Amino acid sequence: MTFDLDIKNTVRTIPDYPKPGILFRDITTLLADARAFRRAVDELVHPWAGSKIDKVAGIEARGFILGGAVAHQLSAGFVPIRKKGKLPHKTVSMSYALEYGTDEMEMHVDAVQPGERVILVDDLIATGGTAEGAVKLLRQIGATVVAACFIIDLPDLGGAAKLRALDVPVRALIAFE
Ligand code: PRP
Ligand code: HPA
Repeated sequence: MTFDLDIKNTVRTIPDYPKPGILFRDITTLLADARAFRRAVDELVHPWAGSKIDKVAGIEARGFILGGAVAHQLSAGFVPIRKKGKLPHKTVSMSYALEYGTDEMEMHVDAVQPGERVILVDDLIATGGTAEGAVKLLRQIGATVVAACFIIDLPDLGGAAKLRALDVPVRALIAFE
């Protein structure tokens, strides 16, 4: 489900970035707009107010900005899911699908305890390869992934459907068809 929020107008679209033919949805303009940033965080938090969420897991890099704000609002801990080689302590890792090839993401092994209830946060879901990898990583260490939350869904690329097929409830605030 998405909402027709006025925050949609604060997302900047850059044609042909990073490659010809791609319409890049840039959230830096949303983040720089105090009202839109607050509204987006409030809307991401809203369904979970009053429920027990132990951790918010944010995906590098833009998921850190949103996930930190969401965790603060929910009085939950924040857990970074990072690209390979960036975390200093013992990690668990998961490979994930990119448009061409694969990469690896990592999380500290002790960042989430088995059975903890976790919300996954990122700015945008496209093919869903990144979020799928993050869900698998969290489940590998025994977390319960309560939902995956995004500002933007690109539904034509099928990512939200991919997550729902893994039994992960998906929430995105806006969509660009
Ligand atoms: C973008 C975006 C998501 C991911 C979505 O990050 O912030 O994390 O791509 O794509 P997918 O659904 O097709 O996997 P990017 O990989 O560009 O990394 P960055 O935030 O570090 O720039
Ligand atoms: N914006 C930001 N990240 C992305 C996009 C986009 O349009 N497509 C895939 N990852």
